Amino acid sequence: MRASTGRGGEAAGAPPDLASRVGTVALANPVMTASGTSGHGAELSAYGDLADLGAVVVKSLAAFPWEGNLPLRVAPVATGMVNSVGLTGPGVAAWIGEHLPSLNRSGARVVVSLWGRTAGEYGEAARQLEEALGQDSEDPSGIVAVEVNVSCPNTEDRGRMFAQSAGATADVVAAVRNSTSLPIWAKLTAAVADLNEIAGAALEGGAAALTLVNTLPAMAVDIDLRRPVLGGVTGGLSGPALHPVAVRCVFECRSAFPEAGIIGVGGVLCAADAIELLMAGADAVQVGTATFVDPRAPWKIVEGIRQWCHQHSVSRLDEIKGAAHR
Ligand SMILES: Cc1cc2nc3c(=O)[nH]c(=O)nc-3n(C[C@H](O)[C@H](O)[C@H](O)COP(=O)(O)O)c2cc1C
Repeated sequence: MRASTGRGGEAAGAPPDLASRVGTVALANPVMTASGTSGHGAELSAYGDLADLGAVVVKSLAAFPWEGNLPLRVAPVATGMVNSVGLTGPGVAAWIGEHLPSLNRSGARVVVSLWGRTAGEYGEAARQLEEALGQDSEDPSGIVAVEVNVSCPNTEDRGRMFAQSAGATADVVAAVRNSTSLPIWAKLTAAVADLNEIAGAALEGGAAALTLVNTLPAMAVDIDLRRPVLGGVTGGLSGPALHPVAVRCVFECRSAFPEAGIIGVGGVLCAADAIELLMAGADAVQVGTATFVDPRAPWKIVEGIRQWCHQHSVSRLDEIKGAAHR
């Protein structure tokens, strides 16, 4: 955990330009919410203007409503948080009616996260979204990308994720590619022996970008009750403990795939954490667990990056993106 965004002192000059780009998707700044940590729609708008964030990534949606796991679903641990929410959601079709209008009114750029139990179900979720885009849902132009969650540790098939197999990852991404014209971001897990192999399969399957990383499979035991803390027994670890893992994954994938879009996610609590991921090679970052501590965190991180750039005479993000590789 870090306490400050950099050394003090002000530098003169024009305000830094924080614009970034993930593949073909242009963002006003590199800070997004992380899927599953800011609700299904515009819930966070009580704390700031969603249009001032790079994008809002909504909780993963399936082609059908899904209840998720039993409580307890979220618990603090010494190094962050474990959760076994289990992909609770209304399904794409209901989400379009219930949540997309408020997101569109907020002016947010929206990334829709999708999941399924088979490649076909992922394709079906993407097809439902694509169909709605062609119809009358207020102003659907706010949707800028689809994030394909192939790495949730809280599925029925506990611990077995599509993103642990190159073939399964490629199949899912291809199924979504065949169902939508939106750019596809593949969200991967660090819990693999060879991340570059999986990332390569996602890119070959048609992903334009890699979101690195999802939570790591984890568990906590209540020693007074002598039983697992989470209703789902095991869950996913997020927060500060995940941050160096995310930095490593971003660095490795940027080395292997210089042209791919890369989004870094894991334990971004402050601007310095975000800048570290950018220097490791990310084009943008996502903020999750920090939002549970302070719902204004994503906006504070945007401002912190702006101040850091100003103090370090950085006028454009390109000056620091990938700096750790040079
Ligand atoms: C309560 C909770 C729910 C989550 N739900 C999802 C989800 O539905 N889809 C997804 O792709 N990731 C989900 N994640 C993972 C986050 O998007 C993110 O990858 C992870 O938490 C690491 O970032 P953080 O350390 O900033 O939280 C969830 C994380 C948490 C803590």
